Amino acid sequence: MSFSKVFCRTCGPLSVGGALLIAWAMMGPQPAQAREEYQPLVVVLPDVDAVAEYTANALYDVIEGKAKKGEGAVLGLATGGTPVPAYALLRKRLKRAADMNLSKVVTFNLDEYVGLPAGHPESYRSYMAENLFVPGLMQGAERENGFSAENIHIPQGDCAAWDGLRDSVLIAQLQKHVDEYEALLRSLGPVDLQLLGIGENGHVGFAEPGSSFEGRTAVVRLTQSTREANRRFFDGDINKVPRRALSMGIASILSAKNVLLVATGTNKAEAVRRMLEGPVDTGVPASALRMHTRVTVVLDSDAASRLSKQ
Ligand code: GLP
Repeated sequence: MSFSKVFCRTCGPLSVGGALLIAWAMMGPQPAQAREEYQPLVVVLPDVDAVAEYTANALYDVIEGKAKKGEGAVLGLATGGTPVPAYALLRKRLKRAADMNLSKVVTFNLDEYVGLPAGHPESYRSYMAENLFVPGLMQGAERENGFSAENIHIPQGDCAAWDGLRDSVLIAQLQKHVDEYEALLRSLGPVDLQLLGIGENGHVGFAEPGSSFEGRTAVVRLTQSTREANRRFFDGDINKVPRRALSMGIASILSAKNVLLVATGTNKAEAVRRMLEGPVDTGVPASALRMHTRVTVVLDSDAASRLSKQ
């Protein structure tokens, strides 16, 4: 690594190793429901590759730590462009560790679009199959690539079974589904490590600005800015971007034991600044992470470029 700049907001500059040690020493069994404000550990790395490596290692270490005890890690997983290279590295590392038992690993995805047909390439189910799991696993094969299909949880928004229903009935059906999702999250959780990206408007998952900090998994309406940001995945056509999604709420996310938020690129710099240096406010959903005691924010230098301590 040619350059790395890592600092802890309370204890000044750190080496990468030191920061990693602190981050992992902080990992433990306490769920965070605190109302006080804390400063996340902020790790600034030189580029996208270094951020991917850090992220893949963090996920791998949690999986390995649990596997060594004969247990399955519970992971909260994010989608979007940012974690793609991290998932690629994680897949490689898991492949090399052929002896590691992944069958008990439990995963919960943050969110899913509503209304894309099953198998649509831009659904988050397809994304996870493509980037981390294998397509066969998502189509019902029991055990491929080490993971067990029954332990992979992704909200189901394809609505195939509900075609033709009135909007209000559809929403009620979807709400029932997400209530069950939340109940499963509570019964199999808490999540050991929740991975997050951040939207340009400060959203996490699809918990958009204005979402209550008490919110649990719900049917949500996507903002125009999120649909604009995601149109690049839909042939650049905003009309193809769904208007609704299913998403964990802020309270669901904060129930994880540890959170790792990852951001890269100058387009995220302002959201990162507002998350870390603006008020803790529902207008910037990611700022709620400052109510959690165990949060690490990993940035490339572009995403960190508007922080005052740069
Ligand atoms: C998407 C997802 C989020 C993701 C964010 C950033 O809309 N719902 O989970 O973190 O927006 O995405 P990207 O990494 O592509 O910038």
